[in-house]
Amino acid sequence: MLLEVTRLSKKYTRGGRDFPAVDNLSLSLERGGFICLLGRSGSGKSTFLNMLAGLLTPDAGKISFDGLDIFSLDDRARTLWRNDKLGYVPQGASLLSNLSALDNVRLPYHLGSRKGGSLKKARGLMSDLGLAKVEKSYPPALSGGEMRRVALARAMMNEPELIIADEPTSDLDSETAREIAELFTLLNDRGCAFLLATHDLELSRHGRVLKISDGRLLSD
Ligand SMILES: Nc1ncnc2c1ncn2[C@@H]1O[C@H](COP(=O)(O)OP(=O)(O)OP(=O)(O)O)[C@@H](O)[C@H]1O
Ligand SMILES: [Mg+2]
Repeated sequence: MLLEVTRLSKKYTRGGRDFPAVDNLSLSLERGGFICLLGRSGSGKSTFLNMLAGLLTPDAGKISFDGLDIFSLDDRARTLWRNDKLGYVPQGASLLSNLSALDNVRLPYHLGSRKGGSLKKARGLMSDLGLAKVEKSYPPALSGGEMRRVALARAMMNEPELIIADEPTSDLDSETAREIAELFTLLNDRGCAFLLATHDLELSRHGRVLKISDGRLLSD
């Protein structure tokens, strides 16, 4: 298994009371697999994905990536792991505003332990995602959909084994969303696994659909 999640839980406090945002959630994703997580707003999708990316510490449970317990790593090692193995597209704004779009895309390559240049690869990805024109622009001058596509290109930069994306097509027009779905399918055919939170039916036609409600998985 590429990803094995066992009885993962996370509580938050609201109005002085604890509530489970993610409640005993288990799942497995095989190498090259494709899972779409569906659930209403507030059902715990982002909380779950943030833990899988190693950005949020679970209260209980285990996340094993390719046999490695990611929370057995210290912060620094986990950051290196994330850069090297994972493409992560968070839900909100995530670009560095003092770097150009192109440099945002190139960043993971230079944070990792990679040798050689990143320019050609980054430009190729940006061109695939229709971003050639905005290479030199800075994030505040990009549209929401362009920012989202830059974040997607950045996630693909290190050719990760797994891409986790939180509503990757939510602020795109239907044509662009369809192109992103096609690109994901292409990468998936080449062996990259995907775990997405999405409401996009086009995306959820591909692969396994899991439903989450109040932090629990409903069906497979
Ligand atoms: N840092 C936090 N502190 C307290 N409660 C939180 C925190 N982050 C999220 N929550 C709550 O946890 C629940 C799950 O939030 P989460 O962001 O995981 O939902 P989601 O399924 O991603 O929703 P959406 O589809 O709107 O993005 C929500 O009720 C939210 O209000
Ligand atoms: Mg969310």
